[in-house]
Amino acid sequence: MLKGKHIILGITGSIAAYKAAYLIRALVKKGAEVQVVITSAGKEFITPLTLATLSSHPVISEFFSNRDGTWNSHVDLGLWADAMLIAPATASTIGKMANGIADNMLVTTYLSCKAPVFVAPAMDLDMFAHPSTQQNLARLRSFGNRIIEPASGELASHLVGKGRMEEPDKIVSVLEDFFVEAALLKNKKILITAGPTYEKIDPVRFIGNYSSGKMGYAVAEACAERGAEVTLVSGPVSLSTKHPGIRVVRVESAAEMYEAATKAFPSMDAAILSAAVADYRPETASDTKIKREATGEMTLHLVPNPDIAASLGAMKKPGQILVGFALETDHGIQHAEEKLQRKHLDFIVLNSLQDAGAGFQYDTNKISIIDRHERVDYPLKTKQNVAIDIVNRLAVCW
Ligand code: PMT
Repeated sequence: MLKGKHIILGITGSIAAYKAAYLIRALVKKGAEVQVVITSAGKEFITPLTLATLSSHPVISEFFSNRDGTWNSHVDLGLWADAMLIAPATASTIGKMANGIADNMLVTTYLSCKAPVFVAPAMDLDMFAHPSTQQNLARLRSFGNRIIEPASGELASHLVGKGRMEEPDKIVSVLEDFFVEAALLKNKKILITAGPTYEKIDPVRFIGNYSSGKMGYAVAEACAERGAEVTLVSGPVSLSTKHPGIRVVRVESAAEMYEAATKAFPSMDAAILSAAVADYRPETASDTKIKREATGEMTLHLVPNPDIAASLGAMKKPGQILVGFALETDHGIQHAEEKLQRKHLDFIVLNSLQDAGAGFQYDTNKISIIDRHERVDYPLKTKQNVAIDIVNRLAVCW
């Protein structure tokens, strides 16, 4: 999958820069064309001569050449790339990328790059764990960049912990997997539901739930990143997305979400239903604010909402893939398997409120993916990385 791919390899000032030589060799061996962009600090750790020899391209470091005044265009470079990989990425470069500090060729190229960006951090364990680094990495993730988590082990400081840049062969397989899966999702039409629904009681009150939409928006962005055309039917959330591959349809109630989803589904290749849809709504909503003084004790009569997942399951045509979520508090696997069958889903993503850091609101989630044959349990990850696992599983359905 890397044959003919244009990869920008950004190298920064870390002892792990020596691994860049192995990275280039592995990428070139797989047929990729590699253009190295290196920071001044990077050149202290590995020579441009080594990198240019291995990549068969002159190494770019400065905006222009002092010798003849020729310019290196970061814009052209950004457009040339099929992917940009920054390995090793120091805390300093990660901070500059997260905050748009474009004071070197590497960061200006990053800001101009329209292709997917992969970042492989390398630093001391305390630097990696520092809230500043973690916040910057979270920002990069929110831009859609993929972080290739560092491994744990002995570091240059001889301390032992998390901060070692991932091994070159693993980084190469992350890129390969990306291109394999990207090809499978390209131009696929995918419907995603996200967020809560609000069921109106009167003009100031509603029945709702704690869904923030983070999980669904992350899934939408992961699909769009791979070239899918996404229709995101979103309940009321404070999130937004600027991804050009995502069309957002905003709704409030379960009935509106049902309308939007059932209208869109016939022309879709897949639907991923991550919304926390209210199962019930008040039978009637008051047009005016209900006054406590006038009603005293109050009873709400609730009627069931349509089950969007089950309705799409009943409409599903051969070739269409339907993915549901199950949010459980007890007997999670049993309930999820029952929903998988009843709603005619191809697979279901189980998350449990019993797992720390999983479910509503968190930036992380812990899931199991269950289909008719097997269950795969995943560790706690950021919702962006959970979304990638879900999209990877979806990709192999076709
Ligand atoms: O938004 P976040 O804060 O990031 O939180 C993410 C999440 C916890 C909301 C998400 O990960 C999740 O679990 N979403 C599904 C929540 C839910 O309603 O689960 P459920 O087990 O009640 O529903 C099962 C499936 O049927 C879901 O795919 C749901 O979208 C769907 N459903 C449910 C009821 C209904 N009336 N119509 C539906 O389509």
